[in-house]
This record gives sequence, C-alpha cells and structure tokens, in this order.
Amino acid sequence: MTLARFVDPLPLPALAKPVGQRSHPAYPGKPLPFYRMEMRAFKTQLHRDLPATPMWGYGGSFPGPTLMARRNEPVLIEWANALPDKHFLPIDHSIHGAERDKPEVRTVAHVHGARTTADSDGYPEAWFAPGRSLVSHYPNAQDAATLWYHDHAMGITRLNIYAGLLGAYLIEDDAEHVLNLPAGDCDLPLILCDRLIARSGELYYPVSDDPDAPWVSECNGNAILCNGKLFPFLEVEPRRYRIRLINAANTRFYELSLSGGVPFQQIASDQGLLAAPLSRAHVTLYPAERAEVVIDFSGMDGKQVQLRQQAEAIMEFRVRDRGRKDTSAVPSTLRSIERLAAASAVRDRVLTLGEQDDAGGSPMMMMLGGKHWSAPVTEDPRQNTTEIWSMVNLTGDAHPMHLHLVRFQVLERRPFDLFAWNESKTLKYTGPAIPPDPEEMGWKDTVRADPGMVTRIIARFEGEPGRYVWHCHLLEHEDNEMMRPFQLLPA
Ligand code: C2O
Ligand code: CU
Repeated sequence: MTLARFVDPLPLPALAKPVGQRSHPAYPGKPLPFYRMEMRAFKTQLHRDLPATPMWGYGGSFPGPTLMARRNEPVLIEWANALPDKHFLPIDHSIHGAERDKPEVRTVAHVHGARTTADSDGYPEAWFAPGRSLVSHYPNAQDAATLWYHDHAMGITRLNIYAGLLGAYLIEDDAEHVLNLPAGDCDLPLILCDRLIARSGELYYPVSDDPDAPWVSECNGNAILCNGKLFPFLEVEPRRYRIRLINAANTRFYELSLSGGVPFQQIASDQGLLAAPLSRAHVTLYPAERAEVVIDFSGMDGKQVQLRQQAEAIMEFRVRDRGRKDTSAVPSTLRSIERLAAASAVRDRVLTLGEQDDAGGSPMMMMLGGKHWSAPVTEDPRQNTTEIWSMVNLTGDAHPMHLHLVRFQVLERRPFDLFAWNESKTLKYTGPAIPPDPEEMGWKDTVRADPGMVTRIIARFEGEPGRYVWHCHLLEHEDNEMMRPFQLLPA
C-alpha cells in the first residue's frame, strides 16, 4: 500500500475544558474543576486517501483531548464509559481477567506518571462497563511533566489502548515557566503509536492461530501514527518549538531523528525537566516513555525537515516565516536534580522478569518475580522509605518497566550470569555496572530493562498507602501476567 506522504495536517488534540465545579471528600469545602471524559465509538480517517475506520476515544477523538493541569491545583475527572457492549478487536477469553463471565467491554482510566490515591489510580480490576462512570481526583502535587492517560482494564488494556483510548496529560509549574521555554502554539504534544491498517482503511489487531487463545506476544504496526494520522505535516515558523514526544505504542520502540542532521535538544524525560539540555541526533523511546525536545527551525525558512523513525520519514515540518519574533530560550541549566543515594535504601528487592510456559508449553506468558497477577502481594514498600528494585531480565527481550505512584532514578544496568541464575538462583555479575545514559539521569517512571542485565532503580515511596501496580509496558505482556500489584504500607 503506497500512500501519499505529508498530505494531512498534524492533528492537535483539543484542550479539555472543565464542565463545572464539584466537591470531593478528599478536599473538604473546596470545589474543584470538574472534567468529564466520555469514551465513545466513532469513525475517523487515518490518512486522506484511506476510508474511515472505527475507533474508540476519550471525548470521541483519537488522541483524546489534552488535559492541562497546574502543579498543586487538584482536579476531578469523571471517566464515563459510553462505548458499545461489543468489542471490535479480538478478546482472548483465556487470559486472566478477560474470562467470558465478564462484560466484553470494560474500561478504567489511568493517568500514567501521576501521583494520586489508589482509588483514583485506575486499578486494573476497578473497571466499569458501558453506561457506567467513575470520578477520580488528581492532586497534581508534582513537578511539571508530560504525562499521558490511557485505559488500564484487566486483560484487555492492549485492545482498549489500540482502539484509541489514550491522550496527553500535561502538568505545568512556576519553576518551569521562569525558564521561558517555547510556549503557546510552539509547545505541542506529539503522540506516536503503531497500528495495523488494512487496505479497507480499517484498523486490525493480529491474532494467533489458536481461535480459543488469540493473544499474541507483540503487535508492531504497518503504520506509525503521529497524533492519530499517518504521514502528517506541520507548518512551523523559523523559531524554536517544544515538542512533547510520547510513545503510546503497544510494542514498538522508536528511534527518532530529524533529516538534514538537525539535532534535538532534549530538555525533559518521563517525569519532567532534565538538569540541563542535551543535544542529541537520535531520541530513543520505549513504550510509555516520554521525551521533550526543542527543535530550532531558525534560519530554515522555506525548507522541510522530516521526522524519521529509523530510516523512514513519518512526519514533515514545513518552515514558513510569518514574521513573528522568537523570544523563547533554552537555558543551559534547567533545574537541579538531587541523586538518591543507594545507601539511603532500606531494601533491595531482586525481582525477575521471566517467561514461563503455561502447563503444556503454550501459550507463553511473562511473569514478574515468577508470580502470577493473582498471587498474594509480595512488593510492599513502606510509605516514605527508599527502596532499590533490581530487575533481573531472564528473557531475550528488553521490557519497559513501569511503576505506578512513584518517580524513580536509574542507578545502573549490570550484566549477570543467566546460567548461574537458572542453576541456583544466585545473582552473579559478569561485568561492571553500566551507568545510565545521560538522558536517563532525570526522574523516570518507565525504564528499559535490557536482556542479560540487572536493571537497578531507586525510588522513595511517597504517596498514600494502598494498592497500586507495576508492570511491563509492552501491552501484550502487561495483559498476560507481566503485571503485579504492590502495596504501599502506612509509615
Ligand atoms: Cu501507562 Cu500502568 O501504565
Ligand atoms: Cu515485557
């Protein structure tokens, strides 16, 4: 299928607007801005020359409207499921949590990277069926960052997100404002995801050859969508732009670059600003990771710059001067990031990322700490303590590991002896520790755990006690047991 490139303008998701004010028991006597995000089915064209495809989206759009929050200004969001009763993608009823006794369509929204209470965190089993809704509250008591919201329903998250249930959630704060980074219409989210598109223009999701167990272990697309369009273009002025890259793909990691050797100035990662901007020819993003980059188009009037995923151009920037002056800046220091000391950790949890044959060898599933989702909680950090989690990857693939509730820092990756582990469960390192890459030196909430490596992270477990989750963000893995609850115990 050859499609004309760069004929559709890049869609910019609408800004979500509160529909009123409401009070909430967590904020007595203080009415809060109240948003309503309705999940609806609709049809949309992914490219000018393709017929429209069915999709699902928050606010009836894909990506959903962008939520803009300010630090320490809490908001309420009613997530309302107005979807049909039947799913349009292939459910695997043999997967835990997606059995036939459950409603086929179930949703629960999670704001990825947000610190809220357990009842507002989108716990996978807190799903609700069409006709129902759930009000969640978000304190936004955290640093400015590019977060995103998406579905998290047990056993069908991969299908719900693939259907289109995702959007950007941005937090801004004063510390960031004084930096005078590019703002207004020169600050935009760019949400990347893979989809499989048939000649008919319709989305489809792959299936295994077992009709009773259609789950597949990964889903890479034949099309890379930018804010929901295939090969879009964006008219820009010859000045700086702040682009908030979000990898919302089920499986694919992106290795992005710009044509003509134009560099990215990376200014932020998952949980906000880096200490200093980093000039980079390539930006790599694993599923759920974010990077904010500044691209400087000054002096390029009349030119085109293409955004590439590896060798393929996926989007085009067209530079046209409209006579506006650029008064923005990219200061050489963005903020100070205090490193968490390994010595401050009260515990170092060794947790495996493994594959297991279920019963007779198939289907495959992935597990954390050798345990199923439904096994009793084993990760139970105490509120306000610091822990190290050493994730031992026993598989042949990299897994993007995500913890809810907390931000963390990457300590190191270190090669280990897989044979020794399999023999006697002893952790034998086979080489020196590799420090995190420069772009991993900021605050993170998702980290690439490489094969053959122990990936060690450190976090201070601040937040309200309760039940949260940690999981692989390859959505196919997450849905099939590569997710575990964790319990934050009161101090
Ligand atoms: Cu992006 Cu548990 O989620
Ligand atoms: Cu995984």
